[in-house]
Amino acid sequence: MRYLACLGIGLFVGLLCALMAIGLMRPRDTYPRATMNVMKHTLGTARTAATGGCAGNETRLRLLGLLAGDLEPAFRSGADDDRIFARYAQSLRARIAEAAAAEACPVQAAALTAVENACEDCHRDYR
Ligand code: HEC
Repeated sequence: MRYLACLGIGLFVGLLCALMAIGLMRPRDTYPRATMNVMKHTLGTARTAATGGCAGNETRLRLLGLLAGDLEPAFRSGADDDRIFARYAQSLRARIAEAAAAEACPVQAAALTAVENACEDCHRDYR
């Protein structure tokens, strides 16, 4: 009976330690991943809007631009220690600026596809 109780306590303590370890590992990536998810949602909404007049895309592109401007510190904390990552981030910012500068909606729709490609370029190497 006593051994059984010890086994139960041992399992319980082990479970607690495992949960703590998972909890310690998780918060590290929440900020960059949240940034990515907001960008995904915003880009998705902008592309949907681009099929019907691009209403509201000015604000969406501004938000995308602001988030893209913060990618290096969000991921690396030490900023310019990774030139290739920074180059992908810079390329994304350039594509977003081009989409924001598009004069007609069909032009913007094409520019948003280029934005999506810039996302994928970085993911191919870093995700
Ligand atoms: C400069 C590099 C880079 C660019 C540009 C980039 N991403 Fe990411 N993205 C990453 C990395 C690295 C991860 C993996 C993050 C992790 O799992 O901690 C990621 C992960 C993601 C995820 C998964 C997040 C999760 O919950 O795990 C989504 C969604 C995403 N990116 C969307 C986008 C979109 C949309 C764009 C373009 C608007 C974009 N990304 C541009 C580097 C980039």
